[in-house]
Amino acid sequence: MSRLVVVSNRVGNLSNPAQTGGLAVAISEAIKGRGGIWFGWDGVTDDSGDGSATIDTVGSVQTILNPIPAADYEAFYLGFANSVIWPLFHYRSDLVRFQQDFYEGYLRVNEQFANALMPHLKSDDLVWIHDYHFLSMGTYLRNLGCDARMGYFLHIPFPGPDLLAALPNHAGFIEDLLQYDVVGFQTSADVANFKRCVEEFTSAETDETGLIRFHDRTCVAERFPIGIDVDAFQEMAASKAEADFIHSVKLNLVAEKQMIGVDRLDYSKGIPARFQAFSQMLNRYPEMSKKVSFLQIAPPSREDIGAYAEIREELERLSGTINGTHADFDWTPIRYIHRSVSRDRLAAMLRASEVGLVTPMRDGMNLVAKEFVAAQDPEDPGVLVLSRFAGAAEEMPEALMVNPFDIDEMAEMFYQALNMPLEERKERHHALFDRIRRYDVKAWQESFLEALTSPREWAEKHAVR
Ligand code: ADP
Ligand code: G6P
Repeated sequence: MSRLVVVSNRVGNLSNPAQTGGLAVAISEAIKGRGGIWFGWDGVTDDSGDGSATIDTVGSVQTILNPIPAADYEAFYLGFANSVIWPLFHYRSDLVRFQQDFYEGYLRVNEQFANALMPHLKSDDLVWIHDYHFLSMGTYLRNLGCDARMGYFLHIPFPGPDLLAALPNHAGFIEDLLQYDVVGFQTSADVANFKRCVEEFTSAETDETGLIRFHDRTCVAERFPIGIDVDAFQEMAASKAEADFIHSVKLNLVAEKQMIGVDRLDYSKGIPARFQAFSQMLNRYPEMSKKVSFLQIAPPSREDIGAYAEIREELERLSGTINGTHADFDWTPIRYIHRSVSRDRLAAMLRASEVGLVTPMRDGMNLVAKEFVAAQDPEDPGVLVLSRFAGAAEEMPEALMVNPFDIDEMAEMFYQALNMPLEERKERHHALFDRIRRYDVKAWQESFLEALTSPREWAEKHAVR
């Protein structure tokens, strides 16, 4: 079996049970089973060292942490990755802050990561590069003579040509992606958008099996929806120690029912609209007062970027206003926790909730939707309320679907979710659970690596068009 080399900007801490962010959570779970190298960054900037990487071994995984100097952190991470690509690919072109030095920093870090990775590679490795931080790394690796099979997976949405055209050198980025043997996306809409961009911005040709031919290379572009480790999450959710903790918390609360939201504090997650819809539901159905409370867990994220600081302030204001309007001596409608919690506790909290709110304005997949389903008691499951703009919507049609731009509709759906009869809850949960189990994190890794091992055969077998 070929050695697996995973590259991602954020390298998860394999021994930390409280990490947040879908990429680190999913890769930790995928790589633990198979072993290999995990190469990337640990989130710390370093101008004092000699720039050399830190190598560590955890079980069968070797982690290689490549330091980023403070100037590159600003231009590459805060700048091009998170103030240009992230907002644009989440359909928030109004938040894009383009500067030429951001673009230069992005390319510089992609090149530096390729230079630092190259000495570790063997020609029969399977190299799997992740996410929007490294669109161009494949080109630099190929220029260095890397002939290993190289795949790329994008965890966030991929926009169509109209939107992508706002990205400086957009055609160059598409050509960079065509240097990979396999390019994977979360949804079929993302694949279709990518193919439209290939057609519009490059001279590449697509053959009858769906292989994209560009100069001397071929590339498979397909959908590989990411999943979770269902059994492990289910087990954590049912842990006795956490159940005792939650029972003691619930004894102090008046409300019978709990709605829950768990998201990095990001403007893409639709948290303010969710708060407003909750308030609207309380206005419209006063009998729900004291019957329901809403727990929002939202750890800080990318706080050095203005748009993230603004969303934090907005939420603090909103939760204060809503609690000020509706609270009583013995009831707090919204409990808002601004930090990360251990995965055990998170799983148990999801299980103890009657309704899970996953209402992003736009999201690549959203693992929390799958975690909520995995955590439920199948005999008395909670209801998932899911935005149609989450990648997960494609695979989870039995959730209560909402349009997060329509606060009135969301308020109505929250009420319906809280009052759904047991039989209907069980039916919906059963269908959702079956699907997240079939397409779990192992299936995601295996199907991607199968395609990467033999891309042409894979394309012929699947005849992707
Ligand atoms: P994103 O990747 O955009 O953050 P996802 O929903 O795909 O969104 O993944 C988020 C991951 O981070 C999930 O596994 C979730 O359980 C985890 N997470 C989010 N918030 C917290 C928190 N407060 N504490 C612990 N884990 C969290
Ligand atoms: C999303 C992105 C990941 C990123 C994570 C956390 O899941 O797709 O690439 O790692 O958010 O964000 P951060 O900026 O803290 O790495």
